[in-house]
Amino acid sequence: MKNIADIRKDYASQTLDPDDCLAHPVAQFSRWLDDAIAADVPEPTAMLVSTVSPEGRPAARVVLLKGVEDNQLVFYTNYHSRKGQHLGHTPFIALTFFWPELERQVNIEGVVNRVADETSDAYFDSRPYKSRVGAWASEQSQPISGKEVVMARFARFAAQYLTHVPRPPHWGGFAVTPERMEFWQGRPSRLHDRVLYLPDGQGGWQKQRLAP
Ligand SMILES: Cc1cc2nc3c(=O)[nH]c(=O)nc-3n(C[C@H](O)[C@H](O)[C@H](O)COP(=O)(O)O)c2cc1C
Repeated sequence: MKNIADIRKDYASQTLDPDDCLAHPVAQFSRWLDDAIAADVPEPTAMLVSTVSPEGRPAARVVLLKGVEDNQLVFYTNYHSRKGQHLGHTPFIALTFFWPELERQVNIEGVVNRVADETSDAYFDSRPYKSRVGAWASEQSQPISGKEVVMARFARFAAQYLTHVPRPPHWGGFAVTPERMEFWQGRPSRLHDRVLYLPDGQGGWQKQRLAP
């Protein structure tokens, strides 16, 4: 294997200054997400979702962001999954976006709530038929003896729901209300630009630069 300690890239394409950042961090995030989409990066909405187990141990996995509404970030999953159980116990979360082509990272920490049933219904109904059946077929994060277990459940639910597939009650959205957001722009010699947003205590946000 190549000596991975020798892999290094100098970042230089753009700068980030607190004065150039929008007043609200979710607006700034939307601007950067738009940039990532416009740059045609692969999976611009993919984010690392970090949760905490009841024993206080962190766990992380990639999930797709599905909406930015009312200054909240929304994703969809199985509420019975491992992450769903973690969030049911400890409703705090961290989201990490990494867009290497833009030399950018965003770190978001916040609190989650389940979205309204009607919101989950609307998104569920917009998904392709097989994805909707799949939500019934997969008991996400449970051990299974083989793939045929899921295929058999898929066939069973496809036969049961020939046209209209109702949303499983254990499947839906989580909305993340940010309490801390940090924007990272890679710079030469590891002297990166970092801008942190924290609540200002008066309903707004304050920005500060962090050392790289
Ligand atoms: C690119 C990508 C997108 C994914 N999107 C989702 C998603 O939107 N919702 C979801 O529940 N899992 C998604 N997954 C699967 C999760 O990474 C994970 O395997 C699954 O949610 C079970 O995680 P858990 O056992 O920690 O709850 C995605 C995985 C990848 C690699």
